[in-house]
Amino acid sequence: MIPEETITRVRDSVDLVELVRESVPGLKKTGRNFQARCPFHQERTPSFNVNPEMGLFKCFGCGVGGDAFKFVMLMEGLNYPESIRKLATRVGITIEEAQSPAVSAEAHERQTLYGLLEDAARFYHRHLLESSDAAEARAYLEKRGLSKESIVRFCMGFAPASGQALREAASRKGWNLDVLEKAGLLRRKEGSGRVFDHFWNRIIFPIWDTQGRIVAFGGRAMGDALPKYINSPETPVYSKSRHLYGLFQGMPTLRKMRHIVILEGYMDVVVCHQFGFEWTAATLGTALTEEHVRLLRRYSDKVTLLFDPDAAGAAASLRGGELLMADGFTVGVVTLPDDVDPDELLVKEGKASLEKYLETPVPFMDYYLDQMRKKYPGTAPESKLAIAKEMLPLIKKMRDPLLQDEHLGRLAQALRVEKPVLAAQMKKIKTESAFAKATVDKSGNNEVAGKPAEALAKAGVKPASALLSVEEEMLLLSLLHPSNVVAELLDALEWTDVRCRQIWALVSPDVAQGTVQVSSVMGALPEDVQEWLTPLTMQQRYYANPQATLEELVTGWNRQQESAVLKEMKAEIDSMIDGTIPMDQTKVQAYNDLSRRLKGSPIIGRRPGR
Ligand code: UTP
Ligand code: MN
Repeated sequence: MIPEETITRVRDSVDLVELVRESVPGLKKTGRNFQARCPFHQERTPSFNVNPEMGLFKCFGCGVGGDAFKFVMLMEGLNYPESIRKLATRVGITIEEAQSPAVSAEAHERQTLYGLLEDAARFYHRHLLESSDAAEARAYLEKRGLSKESIVRFCMGFAPASGQALREAASRKGWNLDVLEKAGLLRRKEGSGRVFDHFWNRIIFPIWDTQGRIVAFGGRAMGDALPKYINSPETPVYSKSRHLYGLFQGMPTLRKMRHIVILEGYMDVVVCHQFGFEWTAATLGTALTEEHVRLLRRYSDKVTLLFDPDAAGAAASLRGGELLMADGFTVGVVTLPDDVDPDELLVKEGKASLEKYLETPVPFMDYYLDQMRKKYPGTAPESKLAIAKEMLPLIKKMRDPLLQDEHLGRLAQALRVEKPVLAAQMKKIKTESAFAKATVDKSGNNEVAGKPAEALAKAGVKPASALLSVEEEMLLLSLLHPSNVVAELLDALEWTDVRCRQIWALVSPDVAQGTVQVSSVMGALPEDVQEWLTPLTMQQRYYANPQATLEELVTGWNRQQESAVLKEMKAEIDSMIDGTIPMDQTKVQAYNDLSRRLKGSPIIGRRPGR
C-alpha cells in the first residue's frame, strides 16, 4: 500500500509537460496550456491539452484526461499502483509501503481493502491454474469454451472447497480477520461465531473498477448447484450499482469506438472479449442504474442492450434504456433467440453469428413501442392513451430538445394522433413540484433550500443548465484566484451541482489560504467528478477583477435559483386557475411571497367568486 502523502509528493514532483512530451513530441505552448494532436485517438487538429499549473491533461476530441498517473496508465497500460511506482522511480522518490498518519481513515481503509482483494485474487487464480483440486473447475471452464488466455486476462480463479483456505493463506500473509470480513471475503456463522470463507468450491471472477483495482468477486458453482452465483456483498470499495464487469478490460477499445454492448453476466463478457467483442460489459444481474449511466457517459455515446429474451430481460432493457435515452445516448436493443446466451452462441456458432445480431439493433424507441403494443393491444383510444401515458414521461425527460421533438413526432405518427395533442399531453406530465424546493418561513421570507441535488437527480430533475454553468464558473474562478474573500463568498453558497459541492468541500480551506493544488484533491474525488473537473480546469479564462466578477456571479446565481422556482410554481398555479388541479391557498401564498420579493408585486390573486 502506497501512502497517499507519497502519491501526492510524486505527483507534485513530476513535470507533466516533460513527461507528455516524451511520448508526444509535438507538444506546443498555447496560452497557459500546451497543445498537441492527441496520442489516444486519430485527429488532424490538436485537441489534446496539458495544463502544467494544475498538473492535468485533457483531450477535447476523445475525452480522455487526468493527472500524470493517468497519462502513464493510458500510455503504457499500467494499473494505478504501477503508474505511481513508475513515476516515483522517475523523480527519485522511494516508496515505503508504510502507513501515513496523514491519510484519512477512510482512504486508508480502502487502500487496505484493495491490497487484500488483489492478494485474494492472486490466491484464487494461482489455485485455478495449479492446484489438483481445481481439476473439475478447469474442465468446467474448458467445457464452457474459455481459453487459457481469457482465464489469465480476467484473472479467473478457484476457491477451494474447504471453506478455510483463503483465510488461512491470508492469515499467513498477515491479514487480520476484521479486514477479511470488511472485504466481504469471510462470513461469520451466527451463534457459534465461527468464520468461513465467503467463496468456497466456486469458480471466481474478480471484478475491477475503471482504475484497474479489484473491488469484488463473483463465484460460480460448477454444474447445477444453487445458488448459481454468489457475489461479494457491498463493501467500502464495492457497490454493484456502480461497477460494470468487463469495462476495465474493454476501455482501450471503448475509447476508440464509443459504443458499448451491455450484457447480463460474467460468462457472457469473458467469452465475448475472447471472441474479440471487447466493447462489452455486464451489469451482473442488476438493472442498469443512474450511476452506470454516468459511468458509461465517459466511454460511449452509443449503447446496445443485449439482455436475456425473458420477461425479466425485457423489463431490464426498458428501465435501462429509458435512463440512457433520457441522458441522450443512442440506444439499441438486440434480442437473441429463446434460451441462447451470447456466450453459448459464440462458442457454438462462432464470431459471425453474434456479429450478425449486433448489426441490426432495434432502435430503443421502436423496441419500447413494440413492448407497449403487446401490453396494450388494439387501436382503441384507450390503448393509445395508455401507451402515450407510458412513453411520454421518457420523451419529456429527454434533455436534447431536437431529439425530444423528433421522438414526439414519431410517437404521434405511430399512434395516429395529432402531434400538438400529444405535445399538450406531455406538457401536463408532472416532473417535480416546485413547491418542494421552496420553503416559506413565517416571516414571509423565501428560502431556496430544497432537496439535495442528489435527490433531484434521482428524481430525474436536473438543475437548469444556466445554473450549472454559473456554478462551474464560480468554482473555476475560485481555483484561479483563491483568496479569503472568495472563500467567504462561496462558503455561503448552497451549491446545487453535487460535483461543485464536493469539490468545494475539499478546496475551500485552501482557497481561503490563497493556494490551491487541484491535482492533490483529485484523488479524493469520485472518478466521474474527476473526469468532469479536469476539462473545467483547462478553460482559458482571465478575470480582470475576480472579486467583483464573483460578486456578480453570486448575485446572478441567487436570482436565477429563485426565478427557476418561481417559474415552476407559476405552472402549477396556472393549472389551479384553469381547474386542472384543486386550488391550494398555501401554495398561492407562497408563490405571491416569492414573486413579490423578486418582482415587486404579486401576480396571482384570489380566484374571483371564491
Ligand atoms: P444468469 O442466470 O443469466 O446467468 O444470470 P449467466 O450469466 O447466464 O450464467 P452462466 O452462463 O450460466 O454461467 C445473469 C447474471 O446474474 C447474476 C450473475 O452476475 C449472472 O452472470 N446472478 C445470477 C447472480 O448474481 N446470482 C445468481 O444466482 C444468478
Ligand atoms: Mn449464460
